[in-house]
Amino acid sequence: MDVLPYTRQILSEPPSLYPAYTSTVSRSPRQPLVTIPQTLTEVTGPMAFGDRLFRPPVHDMTRQGKGEPLGERIIVSGRILDDRGRPVPSTVVEIWQCNAAGRYIHKKDQHDAPLDPNFTGQGRITTDEEGRYRFITIKPGAYPWRNHHNAWRPAHIHFSLLGRGFATRLITQMYFPGDPLIDIDPIACAVPPEARQRMVSRFDIDTTESGWALGYVYDIVLRGRNETPMENVK
Ligand SMILES: [Fe+2]
Repeated sequence: MDVLPYTRQILSEPPSLYPAYTSTVSRSPRQPLVTIPQTLTEVTGPMAFGDRLFRPPVHDMTRQGKGEPLGERIIVSGRILDDRGRPVPSTVVEIWQCNAAGRYIHKKDQHDAPLDPNFTGQGRITTDEEGRYRFITIKPGAYPWRNHHNAWRPAHIHFSLLGRGFATRLITQMYFPGDPLIDIDPIACAVPPEARQRMVSRFDIDTTESGWALGYVYDIVLRGRNETPMENVK
C-alpha cells in the first residue's frame, strides 16, 4: 500500500522538505506520515460534480469586468489523461493566477504592482468527453517573493483538478516555455528536472488564433511514468 506514494515521489513529486524553498523547512513533517484509510464516503461521493455544485463555469477570463483586462491575451487548453493516455471527462478544472503585472487579488499579496479591475485571475470549467479544457486568459507576470534575496517566481498558472470525489483533488502549476526563471525557482526546482519539464506548457500554433491570441497546450497526466508533478501528493 505504501509503494505507490513512494514511487510517485521518486518519479516526479517534489519532496515535503526542500530547504531552498524555505517555507518547506517549517511546514514539512518531522515524523513519518500516518496513513488514514479513506472511507467509502470519501472515495465515492459526491460522484461527478459536473457544474451542479459550482458557480457557473468561467472559461473566458477576459470577460469578467466592464472592459478588457490589460496584458497579453492567451489561450490555454489541453486534456486530462490517465496513465494509458485515455481522456478523463467530467474533471473540474479550476485555475488561478496573477494579472499581467504580477499581482494577485488577495490581501496578503503586497507586491508593488497594480491590480486590474477587469481581471480576477480565476477560471473554472469541466472537461468534455475527450478530457478537454480551454481557457482564454491573460499571460501572468513574474512576481517577487521573499524566499531569498532577489527571488522571483516564473510566470505560472495554478491548476486544481477535482475528479469524481473530493478526495481526488490534485494541484499543480503550469509554466511557460523558454522562461529563464524556471530553472532558478526553488518551487519548480523541487521537482526533478525531467519531471519539471512536464509542468511547462507548449506553444502551439494550431491553438493560436490569427490576429487575436497566442495558444499554449498543457496536457495533464494523472499517473504513471509520464504523470504531471502534483504539489499535494505525498
Ligand atoms: Fe502563484
